[in-house]
Formats: sequence, C-alpha cells, structure tokens
Amino acid sequence: MTLKLFKHGRIYTPLTGRDPAAGGEQGKLAFYEDGCFLVDNGQFAAVGAMADVEKCLEDRCPDQEFDLEGAAVIPGFVDPHTHACFAARRETEFSMRLEGKSYLEILKAGGGILSSVRSVRSASDQELFDFSRALLASTLFYGTTTIEIKSGYGLDTETELRMLRVIDRLGRETPQTVVPTFMGAHAVPEEFKDNPEGYVSLLREDMLPAIAEQGIARFCDIFCEEGVFSVEQSRRVLQRAREWGFRLKVHADEVHDLGGAAMAGEMRAVSAEHLLAASDAGIAAMAKEGVVAVLLPATAYSLRKPFARARTMIEKGVPVALATDLNPGSCFCESMPFVFSLAVMGMELTPEEALTASTLNAAWAIGMSREAGSIEPGKMADFLVLDGETPAVFAYASGARPIRSVWKLGECVA
Ligand code: NIG
Ligand code: FE
Repeated sequence: MTLKLFKHGRIYTPLTGRDPAAGGEQGKLAFYEDGCFLVDNGQFAAVGAMADVEKCLEDRCPDQEFDLEGAAVIPGFVDPHTHACFAARRETEFSMRLEGKSYLEILKAGGGILSSVRSVRSASDQELFDFSRALLASTLFYGTTTIEIKSGYGLDTETELRMLRVIDRLGRETPQTVVPTFMGAHAVPEEFKDNPEGYVSLLREDMLPAIAEQGIARFCDIFCEEGVFSVEQSRRVLQRAREWGFRLKVHADEVHDLGGAAMAGEMRAVSAEHLLAASDAGIAAMAKEGVVAVLLPATAYSLRKPFARARTMIEKGVPVALATDLNPGSCFCESMPFVFSLAVMGMELTPEEALTASTLNAAWAIGMSREAGSIEPGKMADFLVLDGETPAVFAYASGARPIRSVWKLGECVA
C-alpha cells in the first residue's frame, strides 16, 4: 500500500460521480486553484484544498510527495471509440481519397475495411498483438489512460474471437484499461457479397452466441450505413445482441442520414457514434432516451466532411463524448489532444465541455464511469499533468502535446 500526496496543482475535473453531464452541466467543472490530491494504492483517496486533504490523512504520513508547481491537472483521457486492433496501415487508400475517391466507393470495390480484414485474417496472434501494442503505446503518450477497442476486421466467427482475445491481452499487458467491443457487423465480408442476409443470419445465429460464450466483449456495435447494414438489419442484429447480454452501440449516420440515431434511441443503445449526418429527429430521440453522442471530429477532418452538430446536441440535452476513432482507414489518429482541439475550434465546444466529453462522458459511454473519467475519491488515479495553465491549452497549442506527464493508477507511465 503506497500513499502519495500531490500538491500545488491547478486541478480541473468533472464532478458528477458516475453520471454523464448533459446540457448546461457539460461545461461545469470543479476547479481547485492550489489543489492537491491523495493517491492510496492506485486510487484517488481525496481531492481539494490542502487543508481538506490533510484532514483525510489523519495521522498517516504519505510515502511520497510530489510538487505539481502550479501546472494544470486533468483526469486521464478516456477514448471510447477505436478500432485499434489491426495488422497493417492503408496509406495507399488515403492517397486515393485525396485524389477524389470516396470512402464508401473504396469499400464497395473490396478495399477499405475489407482490405484490413484480409491483413488481419492472415496475421498471427502475435503479429496482431505487436502491431496494436505499438498503437496503444502512442495513445498513452498522448494521454489516453482508458481505451475502448472494437473487433470487426475478422468478419468470421473464428477471427472475431481471435481479435477479442488479442484485445483482452492488450488490456492485460499494457498500462491502459482496455474495454473490448464486438463489431462483427463492421462490413459484409467478401464471401457474403451476394448474400448479405446470410451474413446477418451468421451474426445472429453463430457469432453472437460464440462471442457471448467467450465472455470478453461487453458491447456490441454495428456500422449502420448505406451499402453496409440497413436500419432494419441493424435492429435485428442489435436485438439479438441484447438477448445475449451485450450493451449496444451504433455507428450511426456517419455518411448518410439513414435514421441510425433514431434507431439507437429506440433500441436504448448506450451510445450512437459519428453522427455527421444525424437529423433533428435523430438527435431528439437520443436526448429522450439518454443516448450519449460519441463524436469523432478527427474522422470528419480526415474524410473532409463537415463536423457533427455538437452544439445542437448539447442544447437538446444529449451528453456529448469525444473519441479518436483510431483505425487504418477513415481516421489514423492516435491523439486525444488533436481531437480536443478540433472539438473546440471546429465544433465550438468550450474547453470545459470538451474536457467533460473526453473524460467523464467518454467513460460513461463505455460503462467505466464508476472507475474512470474524473478526479474523485474511489476512482482510478489516472491523470495528466499539463504543460499549461488550463485545459484550453489543447486548442491553444493545437497539434502539439502540451502534456508533461501521464499517470495511470498513481504511477507515471509517459
Ligand atoms: O468508424 N465507419 C466504420 N468504421 C470505421 C472505419 C474503419 C476502417 O475504415 O477501417 C469508422 O470510421
Ligand atoms: Fe468507428
């Protein structure tokens, strides 16, 4: 048991315990100007002014003391949407996009996600692990202490199970907390090209039971998009996923407004993600059912599309979270600071709203808000010491890494 005392920091944190912050609450943070906090055995034990934290010490003496020298401190970033388990990059495809080919055209021609499926199927477990571990190390350097990773480059039962085993191993063998999501419904694989309904049946009858039995994934996600899975097919897959005990997520209205956000509301999904083309009705349905919007501004940037309507979502009472979407195709972005900066400069979130979006609301979107997402007693002592006075430094120093150090469970890891 070690007891560590951190003093003289400018501490910024959401303070709502485990509930997400929506509407006007999203931009409200606790701020301790000359703040300190106590870390007991890897968890926050107290936070606040020196006098309050000292009271909590009673007659115990900290094993170590750290002077934060007036630097800003925030909770570690939680990245609630990544596809960070893959075996090869797709830079050639990116060049094709720069020359005018669209993301969905490339997928239709057997590239895109399907090209990653080929490289993942032919990689060994160790190759897949090594490639992904390097990605995770980079996200950690940029301050991500908890990360969700989706499967979805296997698209057959065996390879999806294998991907989830690798994702599980990443959680055990890297410093970060990893939350695994099953995304067998990421695309229709080549072998079902002429029979997409056959793949929906395979998902419902074969994959979902096998993944549930394996017991690694907590969430089930689906790419509801023109030319991928329709709203009606998505509903059938998600209904079955719920029967098997998964919590639901939807890649919704990323390129076209199919009504994915409304379907996420109707299905009481935990989150709807992307939402670049989400309609007013879709946003209203999400607000009504408390579905969190996981927004991915680096993907919009990389696809050269307009950002999601984050301000409208916040005004309508939808809790907004931010994520990188780290993947080999639509968005090869490992940096939550870059996402934060796009959210402030491109989607007009205030720095306070962006901080809640990339910590507490992000944690809630992946079922981790009891353990992560704020500097509050009882949560994991995951935090960032910034090279700046306020969280606005991520937008002020856009494209940089204004982070002095990254701490996971009370240990300095980057
Ligand atoms: O979130 N939209 C679907 N899935 C990913 C992209 C995956 C890929 O291109 O490999 C996304 O953008
Ligand atoms: Fe995605």
